[in-house]
Amino acid sequence: MNIGILGAATVGEALAVEFIRAGHEVLISNRRGPGSLSLLIHRLGPKAKAVTLEQAAGCPLVILAIPWVGVKEALPKLPKWEGRILIDATNTFLNYVDFAVDQLGEDSGSEIVARLAPDAKVVKTFNTLPISGFFNAVPEGHTRVAFLAGDDVQAKASVAALIKSIGLTPMDVGALGSGGRLMQLGGVFSGAELLKVNDR
Ligand SMILES: NC(=O)c1ccc[n+]([C@@H]2O[C@H](COP(=O)([O-])OP(=O)(O)OC[C@H]3O[C@@H](n4cnc5c(N)ncnc54)[C@H](OP(=O)(O)O)[C@@H]3O)[C@@H](O)[C@H]2O)c1
Repeated sequence: MNIGILGAATVGEALAVEFIRAGHEVLISNRRGPGSLSLLIHRLGPKAKAVTLEQAAGCPLVILAIPWVGVKEALPKLPKWEGRILIDATNTFLNYVDFAVDQLGEDSGSEIVARLAPDAKVVKTFNTLPISGFFNAVPEGHTRVAFLAGDDVQAKASVAALIKSIGLTPMDVGALGSGGRLMQLGGVFSGAELLKVNDR
């Protein structure tokens, strides 16, 4: 499967490595453009291609891995979503100096993402741990859980299959509004690390 990645920093690269290992092709992008990604592409190898944000967003499944403060600027510039899946991996930090968190009131991060990407099937996942934490070794007979939340059953099934393909156990925690709130900063699943005993 072709997977588009918006953002080519810690999360974009870590997920690209795992997707490629699982046999997928990745189209990865950043704000500065494909010319700035040659070293990253060299590290990722032939199954990775540097593209524009617009090209990455054209894939059937797209990862949003940019800072929260860039989301409102980036999403409106992208092509119409027309039902493609947008995986929201963001956390709502306003900066990485004192890690202040955006005060959203009654709103939630993923619902804001969904409004900024009309017609995208938004699924939240990969945000609840530092990204390397998803891929640390686990005791034999266990797999690490990746929570996911979203409103579209088929989109969640596709994302669950992607999660499984990279060796994690998907755990559906509900709709984008309710489950997304549990997963975002301050929610009970934010920072929660869960191991599943295999075959149970
Ligand atoms: N780091 C983690 O372990 C972790 C774990 C879970 C979730 N998250 C969340 O995942 C997201 C990505 O985190 P990160 O640590 O990988 O890196 P980051 O520093 O939040 O993002 C950097 C990437 O985003 C691009 N970018 C910045 N502003 C942009 C804009 N306005 N439009 C398009 N692209 C833009 C940058 O492109 P240029 O380099 O060209 O500027 C760069 O590729 C964040 O929302 C973060 O909260 C991070």
